[in-house]
Amino acid sequence: MQQLLDPADVAEAVDGFMAATSAARAWDVETAFDWTAADAGRLTEGQRSAVQFVTIIEDHLPGYFDVYHRSFPVDDTVDPAEFEHNRELYHFTVRWAAEEDTHARALARYQRASGMANRDLLRGELAAEGRKRFDLPYEHPVQFFAYALVQEKATQIYYQHLREVSGDPVLGAVLTRLARDEARHFTFMADMVGRYLRAQGDAAVEPIRDVIAAFRMPLADTMRGYWRWALKIADVASYDHTGAYEHLIKVIDRAVDAKSDRLTELTGFIGECGALAR
Ligand SMILES: [Fe+2]
Ligand SMILES: [Fe+2]
Repeated sequence: MQQLLDPADVAEAVDGFMAATSAARAWDVETAFDWTAADAGRLTEGQRSAVQFVTIIEDHLPGYFDVYHRSFPVDDTVDPAEFEHNRELYHFTVRWAAEEDTHARALARYQRASGMANRDLLRGELAAEGRKRFDLPYEHPVQFFAYALVQEKATQIYYQHLREVSGDPVLGAVLTRLARDEARHFTFMADMVGRYLRAQGDAAVEPIRDVIAAFRMPLADTMRGYWRWALKIADVASYDHTGAYEHLIKVIDRAVDAKSDRLTELTGFIGECGALAR
């Protein structure tokens, strides 16, 4: 991978993420919720459909995690300097992956406890989508963080909207935990994008622009019936990544004191992409 951030810079970002993830904030599927009170009978059909949809998205964690291994290897296929960078990043990705895997377990547990799904049937359904390959075909490292910045914020916003309308307080409690985690993931990605902009300036502009121009939420290109499903659950709470664009613009605005012409053009472009979708 070309034009990597200095490992010391990555280490600082990781330290910030870990400090925001103190033991006091940690939670687990087993004890954080009153599963005996979970009741899918209190949800509308649209809300149940939304829960099924986000369970598939979260359950694809092995595919997402694998992208980091392929793109930032921690083995002898990279030289020592690149390894240093990738090893620092791995401290984040392995913690992040554990949290995302917990999200998948929490949603599957909700489906089971609330009477929405049988555990064995659900496992089979998830396997049909879960085994499909997920790929982010990026060449510049900042692109992975810009993509995840938008995706994490969009997911956080979606969970907050779904929580507001949820008829079951247990689902509401699950979504509250998930949304808080996604907010911390967003903060790390925003920190990384900001560091790239400060370290590389205009060289990071085109790669970020390419991410936004071709943006799709995870699994949009592989999940069976994705677009019909995404439209259907949008009735319940809007599932739209462009709501995250204003946050990306803020990250860019804050990263540098005086924006170059190219950065100004980039934020204009992102703003237009957001406005076009509304
Ligand atoms: Fe998640
Ligand atoms: Fe996340």
